[in-house]
Amino acid sequence: MIPIEKALKEAADMLQEVADRPLLEAQILLAHYLRCDRVFLHAHPETLIAQQGYFELVRRRVNFEPIEYIIGEVSFYSRLFYIEPGVLIPRPETELLIDKVTQKIEPTETIAEIGVGSGVISILLKLQFPHNKVLATDINPKAISLAAKNAKKFGVQIELYQTSYLDGIGEEVDIIVSNPPYIKEGEKLAKPLDFEPKEALFGGRNGDEVLKEIIDRFFASRARVLACEMGYDQKEAIAKYVQRYSGFTIEFYQDLAGLDRGFVIERMRG
Ligand SMILES: C[S@@+](CC[C@H](N)C(=O)[O-])C[C@H]1O[C@@H](n2cnc3c(N)ncnc32)[C@H](O)[C@@H]1O
Repeated sequence: MIPIEKALKEAADMLQEVADRPLLEAQILLAHYLRCDRVFLHAHPETLIAQQGYFELVRRRVNFEPIEYIIGEVSFYSRLFYIEPGVLIPRPETELLIDKVTQKIEPTETIAEIGVGSGVISILLKLQFPHNKVLATDINPKAISLAAKNAKKFGVQIELYQTSYLDGIGEEVDIIVSNPPYIKEGEKLAKPLDFEPKEALFGGRNGDEVLKEIIDRFFASRARVLACEMGYDQKEAIAKYVQRYSGFTIEFYQDLAGLDRGFVIERMRG
């Protein structure tokens, strides 16, 4: 047994290399382990805890496993979602994609997401547009079941399909939104990304193949708007690719660091 204060200090020392804020991560892991909040840790520094289980969690983090997978939770758009190994951890920059597509959605329009992952985009859209139908796909069965679990947590109804793109959906949609895999195959990634599913990250030999396929499918459909996240270096390739089509506008957007991060294509009316 070890007092909370000492356990936190030892854990923070172990986490120095992997975490930007070692003490905070040590506290988050301990609060998760003890099923209490962090305030309890501050208020009870002398309380004794069984250290073995706690330090097992700390060691997972020392091995670069993302803290979200260890605690099973991720904060996104100021809400807490379930997350599990095998499903991509949603990134803060994806909040912008939601903001961008939100500006385009009209009442009664059907929204479809390609690559739902943990469900964050579709769930937040459904919360903002409760009267619009939202459907979402993923090729990864773990993503489909986690998105269903998150949808239940937030009390929203989303139609989920385990399929590629929108194959077999059998209905016209108005808005297509996607944060697809867009990293170039073989690109060397930071260690924590090794824990994330490859099919969520890699978008083909150039990285933009899935994006281009989504663009082709959008123009082959009757959908009105397509909003996608993309890599910071893919604007030129996407701008060139869409030139084969006509009757639309395209707007690229940047993330908070000023990097190109996505685009919204809108069909001209009439
Ligand atoms: C970058 S993750 C995005 C997950 C989630 N939407 C988010 O923003 O956090 C991409 C997702 O697309 C899925 N995916 C990859 N190829 C797909 C395809 N052809 N059709 C449907 N989903 C696909 C992956 O399994 C993964 O869940």
